[in-house]
Formats: sequence, structure tokens, C-alpha cells
Amino acid sequence: TKVVVLLSGSGSNLQAIIDQVTQGNLKCEIACVISNKADAFGLERAKQAGIPTQVVDHKAFDSRESFDAHLQTQIDVYNPHLVVLAGFMRILTAGFTEHYLGKMLNIHPSLLPKFQGLHTHKRAIEANETFAGVTVHFVTAELDGGPNIIQAKVAIETGETEESLAKKVLKKEHIIYPMAIDWFLNGRLKMNNNQTVLDDKVL
Ligand code: GRF
Repeated sequence: TKVVVLLSGSGSNLQAIIDQVTQGNLKCEIACVISNKADAFGLERAKQAGIPTQVVDHKAFDSRESFDAHLQTQIDVYNPHLVVLAGFMRILTAGFTEHYLGKMLNIHPSLLPKFQGLHTHKRAIEANETFAGVTVHFVTAELDGGPNIIQAKVAIETGETEESLAKKVLKKEHIIYPMAIDWFLNGRLKMNNNQTVLDDKVL
């Protein structure tokens, strides 16, 4: 079972996935890690684990469409069962999301549908929310809008900063993302009619 991971940065979620594979809890081959940034630390993590890497620099393309088309070609070389977005900071075209519909997951650091987009923790603190959190969801054409799979939440405490919150939320991310991937690869998780189905139950 092959998985391709896309990222743009630190890759701590990639690391969590690698660790679960190494420990034998997650049964898949991470066929390739692709980054749109050549200096993403996630690429180092992949290399350390012996995983092939590729850089597809969005700046080398003159449109979102041409970038996505090239990215798609590179991913499809591996014919993966699942595409995992792990901190991939590009908005995807509808054509791209359609191509992987029901076969691509994303992790977003908020309790969706709250705080789609960027700076989620800062916005949650400023909005005086009691809880922040993270959501794993299927990717559809709607940015951060596909059906939810699993969420984890953490309390926003007095004096909480964007950094302290991000740290707490990341710990949860590293638990729930490998879990959702495992469900998918074991056939327990599907997307049907824009809805998440887990063990034959519509969530
Ligand atoms: C995470 O907060 C994730 O939710 C968001 O981007 C960040 C990626 O972190 N989509 P990392 O690169 O996995 O450390």
C-alpha cells in the first residue's frame, strides 16, 4: 500500500507517520515525499528514513494549473492509494482535488469549520475561544472544507500564546493523523457523496 506525502515545512507530521510505520503500527510504504520548497526540513526527515524525495517548486510555474498538473504527474508515477497533505501550503485547483477525490487527506490546525485558512491559533485566541484543536479531513475543491474525519481539541488557557497553543495542538496532530491514515488504508474509512464514512457509519 503506497502513500505519497506532500509538505512545505518542518514535517513533524511526516515524522509522526514515519515513526508509526517504523514501529509497525501503520502498514504502508511512504513511496515519496514531495515538497514545493527545497529547504523544507521535512525533506531531511524523509532522507533520514530512506524515503525518496522530490522538490516541485511552485515558483517555476506560471500558473496554479500548470504547477498542479506537474505535481499530479509526479505523484502518479507512484500510483499511490492515498495522498497525504502534511503542512502543504499551496491552494489546490479543482482539477487536482477532483483527481484525488476520496483519496487525499489534509490536516488543519483548527476545529473546522471554525478558522479555515491561515493563523488559526492566533485567531482562536483573539476570538476568546475556550478550545482550539485540529481536524483531519478529506480534501475537496473547497479550501479546508472537505468532510471531517477526526478532531482533537485542547483547552486555551489563561496567558496562552500562539506558540504554546501550536505546540499543544501539534502533539494531538501527531496522534490523530497516523490514526486516520491507518483507518483509510485498512478500508475502514471512505468518502461517499461528500460525506465521511467510517466503518460503514456516516459521520
Ligand atoms: C500543522 O500545524 C498542520 O496542521 C498544518 O501545517 C502544520 C504542519 O506542521 N496543516 P509540520 O510540518 O507537520 O510540522
